Amino acid sequence: MFTVENQTNTSENALIIGVNDNTCSESEFNEQLLELKLLAETAGAVVVSESVQKRSKIDPATHIGKGKATSVIEQAKELKCNLIIFNDDLGPTQLKNLQKLASEEIKILDRTGLILDIFKKHAQTKEAKTQVKLAHLEYLLPRLTRQWTHLERQMGGIGTRGGPGETQIEIDRRLIRNQITKLKNELIKIQKHQQTQSQSRANLFRIALVGYTNAGKSTIMQALTNADVFIQDQLFATLDTTTRKLNNFNGVSVVLSDTVGFIRKLPHDLVASFRSTLSVANDADLLLKVVDASSLFAKTHMQTIDSVLKELNIESKKELLIFNKIDLIQDQSTIKGLTKSFPDAIFISAQRKLKIDGLLSKIKECIETKFIEKTILIPHTKGALITQFYKKVKVESRIDEYDGVKLKIKGLKPTIESLLKKIMED
Ligand code: GTP
Repeated sequence: MFTVENQTNTSENALIIGVNDNTCSESEFNEQLLELKLLAETAGAVVVSESVQKRSKIDPATHIGKGKATSVIEQAKELKCNLIIFNDDLGPTQLKNLQKLASEEIKILDRTGLILDIFKKHAQTKEAKTQVKLAHLEYLLPRLTRQWTHLERQMGGIGTRGGPGETQIEIDRRLIRNQITKLKNELIKIQKHQQTQSQSRANLFRIALVGYTNAGKSTIMQALTNADVFIQDQLFATLDTTTRKLNNFNGVSVVLSDTVGFIRKLPHDLVASFRSTLSVANDADLLLKVVDASSLFAKTHMQTIDSVLKELNIESKKELLIFNKIDLIQDQSTIKGLTKSFPDAIFISAQRKLKIDGLLSKIKECIETKFIEKTILIPHTKGALITQFYKKVKVESRIDEYDGVKLKIKGLKPTIESLLKKIMED
């Protein structure tokens, strides 16, 4: 569980609390709480109880009002909980006041703090770890209170202390700001390295899977590529981008990338920190938007996907909408309704491998819309290149002529251009 001074992952008992301020329907609110419970469990906590408060005006000092806060803390103590998790994000003052009321026995955590904890647990690569660290420090900076006065110990602060008169909190803030700058620079370096890599793959057709967490992106990846990917009934099981090769289509190399799942109320800073992981979505020629069709909140999930993509400036891409988990739908009218609203969508079950062929042929159609046709003459002196044409593009006809071989070809523009360049080379 996420603590700054003691970052161990032992199981903790949690009480979760949600405030229903009437901005969403009762059922949507219940699904949010269910999601919070799954998030807490993913982080390793045991959710012992939940508390709901109806109020239209959020209390600026304690979010739920001092009376309710005191009673929830009492309830948590009785249930031997050492953690109270809020469904919403808490402002720095609210967090500070609530933590004061709860004393040191119980830790107060908000939704972002919880998500950050899971991110930290699941980050595998250097890039993901750097992004999580950055998001963590950006979250921490405005929330810094006296309880984190030993921060410099973790941050290797020796030799970086301020002059006399500087308070411990000021020192900590300065250390955090320095660390944030350092991490941002590291991420820029990683991104530059990735850009070089993606440029060298310019003649590939790139597909990226995006979607709400737990929608089944990794399972689709596995169904399409037979790849050994990490699949778990957990939120944010995938934090790092995984890329696998898909079968060639008419000579075109196709790669498929899985990305971090989206979630509602994903804080802006967190999205920004994951910009580089999500850059595969930005570079993609085709986006596969995955939605769990069995969720009552499929449409809200779709709105979340669109708003995160918008925030990342990844809009107006060629995309295919995929409704997954159709095996879980009992009522056929649900599928009928979705088909009516989204006539171009594809309905599959990645787990049961249902309609995967249909998905593959749709992908193929999308690739073909990117094809161009050309007739070229390969001089005999460049005859060795002919096999490359057969490998990388679709050869529609071949005529052996006096001065060379005439091919009518169809393929991706960058692939054809790079082959033509080879013909021109001395
Ligand atoms: P994140 O990594 O959290 O973003 O999740 P994800 O979108 O990659 O989902 P993942 O593929 O890990 O699947 C989440 C859960 O849904 C797993 O328990 C899968 O077995 C299950 N699942 C995936 N596809 C289907 C499906 O078609 N039908 C059913 N019934 N379950 C599925």
